[in-house]
Amino acid sequence: MLNGPNLNLLGTREPAIYGTRTLAELDSFCTAVGRDLGIDVRCAQHNGEGELVDALHAARGSADGIVLNAGAYTHYSYAIRDAIAGIAIPTIEVHLSNVFARDAFRATSVLAAVCIGSISGFGERTYALALRALAER
Ligand code: DQA
Repeated sequence: MLNGPNLNLLGTREPAIYGTRTLAELDSFCTAVGRDLGIDVRCAQHNGEGELVDALHAARGSADGIVLNAGAYTHYSYAIRDAIAGIAIPTIEVHLSNVFARDAFRATSVLAAVCIGSISGFGERTYALALRALAER
């Protein structure tokens, strides 16, 4: 599970949109969901585009699937798109908020086409749904 820029601020960042749970709480939640599903979940967060690219590369040989919330990079990072395509690990794009019900620019994802699916709008449940989809796959 890989979270991108500004998601380290969860809990205090625009709580009306992203909720009041912290990133540490989200990580614990996802780890527990993984335990129930019988899969090991490792969590990381990076603000930098290059760090996210590096983390995607590092997943080769160590992860069977990736749940990725690339934050705002979702909407314009061809570097992250190319990394996902290059590592060939099933990746699900996730968003806490319903990106289609917000600013027009958020309705565009340059990552979706190289992911096996996208889920948005269910808060932390979004991640649980993605983990289940990967586990079932
Ligand atoms: C987000 C939605 C993005 O548009 C935004 O830039 C984020 C968070 C979400 O989880 O809802 O940083 O990915």
